[in-house]
Amino acid sequence: MTQLQEATAFIQKQLSEKPHVGLILGSGLGMLADEIEHPVKIKYDVIPGFPVSTVEGHAGQLVIGELEGISVIAMQGRFHFYEGYGLDAVTFPVRVMKQLGVEKLFVTNAAGGVNESFEPGNLMLITDHINNTGQNPLMGPNDNEQGVRFPDLSQAYDRKLQGLAKDVAEELSLDLKTGVYVWNTGPTYETPAEIKMLQKVGGDAVGMSTVPEVIVARHVGLDVLGISCISNMAAGILDQPLNHEEVIETTEKVREDFLRFVKTILGKVNA
Ligand code: HPA
Repeated sequence: MTQLQEATAFIQKQLSEKPHVGLILGSGLGMLADEIEHPVKIKYDVIPGFPVSTVEGHAGQLVIGELEGISVIAMQGRFHFYEGYGLDAVTFPVRVMKQLGVEKLFVTNAAGGVNESFEPGNLMLITDHINNTGQNPLMGPNDNEQGVRFPDLSQAYDRKLQGLAKDVAEELSLDLKTGVYVWNTGPTYETPAEIKMLQKVGGDAVGMSTVPEVIVARHVGLDVLGISCISNMAAGILDQPLNHEEVIETTEKVREDFLRFVKTILGKVNA
């Protein structure tokens, strides 16, 4: 058996139902998984082939169950490239989700606001991304069973899911921003000069995750919804230093908005 088959079989044994939606929960946003009903929780470190998360604020487990009547599998904590994992490891859980039967992937993250009209605490619907790293999880031999050699990313973020998210934001009177997410490797935050550059090339938010998972999700044919929580203004926009504590504090403040938003979308995803 391959590692992918082993991990899938290991998780499948503990499930009674096929998960329909995958959720990847970013820094400070893991509490969404605490709302899952009849949860089966599986720590990453017991799953064959799974890496183990090391970053503060990342619990490191799969939580599988029902949310708003939908069968979901959530990653409470994700793997980051800056932790030293290869992109194979970073994106392995997405491949496992696909094998488990997931059709839609909701990816979330905390991100710095590059667009100066944003404010910390805003939620941003990701409409597209810029891979600013020169890295790609699909480099190397292609497994044609998983997906094509040259995947199309012209609609990486599913238009129908974007439409649904916008409708839900309106229904909830939520000031939903939209924009382009830029992936940098981290772990340093950017310099003010880098942020000026990202503004010029069309970035609206910047972070250290999400893009590799989205690329692999598209490779295996999952429909993707991406949501950034703007946790801080990016470097140089306000005259103040950035720190991880601020990122976590802001995500905790938008917790209620974020929970309501994602749960309401989930409740309508099959409608
Ligand atoms: N830059 C990069 N990643 C981030 C930021 C930022 O300003 N905030 C949260 N994640």
